[in-house]
Amino acid sequence: MALVSTKQILEEAKKKGYGVGAYNVNNMEQMQAIMAAAKETQSPVIIQASRGALKYSNFTYLSYLMKAAIVENPDIPVAMHLDHGNSLESIVKAINLGFSSVMIDGSLLEDGKTSSTYDYNVKVTSSVVEYAHARGVSVEAEIGTLGGIEDGVGSGKMHLTDPKEAERFVSETGIDSLAIAIGTSHGAYKFKGSVNLAFDVLKEIRSLIDIPIVLHGASSVPKELTDELNKYGGKMPGAKGVPISSLQEAIKLGVSKINVDTDGRLAITVAIRKVFTETPEKFDPRDYLGPARTALTNLIIKKMRDFGTSWHAKDYCPISLEDMKKQYVLN
Ligand code: G3H
Ligand code: 13P
Ligand code: ZN
Repeated sequence: MALVSTKQILEEAKKKGYGVGAYNVNNMEQMQAIMAAAKETQSPVIIQASRGALKYSNFTYLSYLMKAAIVENPDIPVAMHLDHGNSLESIVKAINLGFSSVMIDGSLLEDGKTSSTYDYNVKVTSSVVEYAHARGVSVEAEIGTLGGIEDGVGSGKMHLTDPKEAERFVSETGIDSLAIAIGTSHGAYKFKGSVNLAFDVLKEIRSLIDIPIVLHGASSVPKELTDELNKYGGKMPGAKGVPISSLQEAIKLGVSKINVDTDGRLAITVAIRKVFTETPEKFDPRDYLGPARTALTNLIIKKMRDFGTSWHAKDYCPISLEDMKKQYVLN
């Protein structure tokens, strides 16, 4: 089994200067597509489940799908990550399900919508670090606020990360990776006009902190995909994401983890719409979920190549949860 922590994956990526995608999963086809892409490109991978995804799958189903992915791919280092945990309670639940990594998003209150204070963020994050590290589980936290709202994640108000505050936050909490806000947002509508990311802020943060940096809201929303979606009866006018070239620049400047959900949703929806439009007589779920799975595999293969993750699977030596625990006890 190749279950690793995100600490292991991201520190290796930081050292070698490549990015690792963290791909959201909700169901079997997504899980299989991500693993097929990781296998094809021999990439380490972070599979992440949101609170919504866990709830949708009644918790056990999704965690077992993630474990199946790990068992089926012994040569691929995989981290099981909770995306946007909102309380110590949600973290405990994920760790009990076997997750090797958790995010506590204390930039927002428990409702996942209201911006919190710095002190609240430090308090909830520190309690998660104490609980998770004692169990060998790595912790991502967030400072600053992304724009956009998506299904209860996000306040809708953007607040770029203050580099000095980030430095203080890292030293006060002992987290393993830090999500920052430099102008991205969740969902398919990230920019009204031109793409504008605060690379100067990223550079300053990188010079002040030594742990891996995470970029949420990093889908590219490729025009080819939204055009096709609209062609097959969808309705997403004016959607815009972060171009691959900007993500590559962000990786160069120190981003190690790149969160992608929206692009996967788009690839799946386009493939399903295409089957329904071109062959309306089909009604076997395998006839549309199969093409959706293939489309997602191809999308992620390209991302793994673009982020420079390819061929780095061999860099890792999987370690047991017991050894992960020692990493924290000793460090
Ligand atoms: O950051 C949000 C992710 O895209 C997860 O979205 O809460 O709808 O599963 P979700
Ligand atoms: P996107 O909506 O850009 O895919 O971002 C996903 C994300 O940040 C998940 O945490
Ligand atoms: Zn996110």
